Amino acid sequence: MEENKAVLYSAVQPTNKLTIGNYIGPIKNWVSLQNGYDCFFAVANMHAITVRQNPAELRQRTLELVALYIACGVDPEKCALYVQSHVHEHAELCWVLNTFTYVGEMERMTQFKDKAARHADNINMGLMDYPVLMAADILLYQTDLVPVGLDQRQHVEIARDIAQRFNNAYTPTFKVPEALYMKVGAKICDLLEPAKKMSKSAENPNGSVFLNDDRDTVLRKFKRAVTDSDAQVKFDPENKPGVSNLLSIYSVFSEKSIAEAEADFAGKGYGEFKLAVGEVVADKLAPIQREQAKLLADKDYLNGVLKAGAEKAAFRAGKTLSKVYKKIGFYQI
Ligand code: TRP
Repeated sequence: MEENKAVLYSAVQPTNKLTIGNYIGPIKNWVSLQNGYDCFFAVANMHAITVRQNPAELRQRTLELVALYIACGVDPEKCALYVQSHVHEHAELCWVLNTFTYVGEMERMTQFKDKAARHADNINMGLMDYPVLMAADILLYQTDLVPVGLDQRQHVEIARDIAQRFNNAYTPTFKVPEALYMKVGAKICDLLEPAKKMSKSAENPNGSVFLNDDRDTVLRKFKRAVTDSDAQVKFDPENKPGVSNLLSIYSVFSEKSIAEAEADFAGKGYGEFKLAVGEVVADKLAPIQREQAKLLADKDYLNGVLKAGAEKAAFRAGKTLSKVYKKIGFYQI
């Protein structure tokens, strides 16, 4: 890592299974950004526990996610790939930043309100504090850019506010980060309900294609995808949402434009079209799944990657935290 490159920070929660929508979004973006920036990529397991998790699953998904990212092309030699809880500075800075954050502003966060409604039996302090922990993640690394989806906009905004508040109260301490809203390439929708985004937690799992679905499952899901009665493979999201969604998926996975994708199926029936979309997806997933399985079988290697990643991260995080402790008046030995 070169010190003069701009710093980029992002994280994902090791919750739920990942869909092909996640591949098209964050994963591909991280891979394409890793060469131009000094990158820190974390598995946000501390954020994950704000909603109750099964411990064995959380542990397993953490490792699976790391293996998946490497299998998709994230290069641990280029980036610091690490697990959030391995770098204790995150929790420590979060505590300090809590004292620069108002209860009222946390109560107004959209995601908090949504999650509080969905998990009414467990509206814990961590759930409310989620954005402050995320601010700590970002600010610890003197981050320039935070690639996130639009759903994280408010969280990056609050991280900026907190940074500015702290800088104004003392002297400039944190870099004020910018969000980098990722081009999602295409919005991938549910195969059975194409008006909805494809989700890792959809009611009917047949509408979502998961990154670990085997070939037969992928082909079967695409075979059952909803189309329409007009029997023309044309991109028209308004009137033909199902077919257009399949065209988007085909376009991304075959790296062809929508027009080229349409041309591939001119005069062909939906049966043939859906099979072709399924095949292009299955063909792309197979080598990733093989690589992920290989990595998961080599736990020593993964542990080594995570150890090196945590060390790289802790080095930088430690510098920032020590500055913060000095400014706020924590006695240091
Ligand atoms: N909240 C983010 C999400 O669910 C994950 C996350 C945690 C994150 N810490 C972060 C993203 C810091 C960017 C920067 O997608």
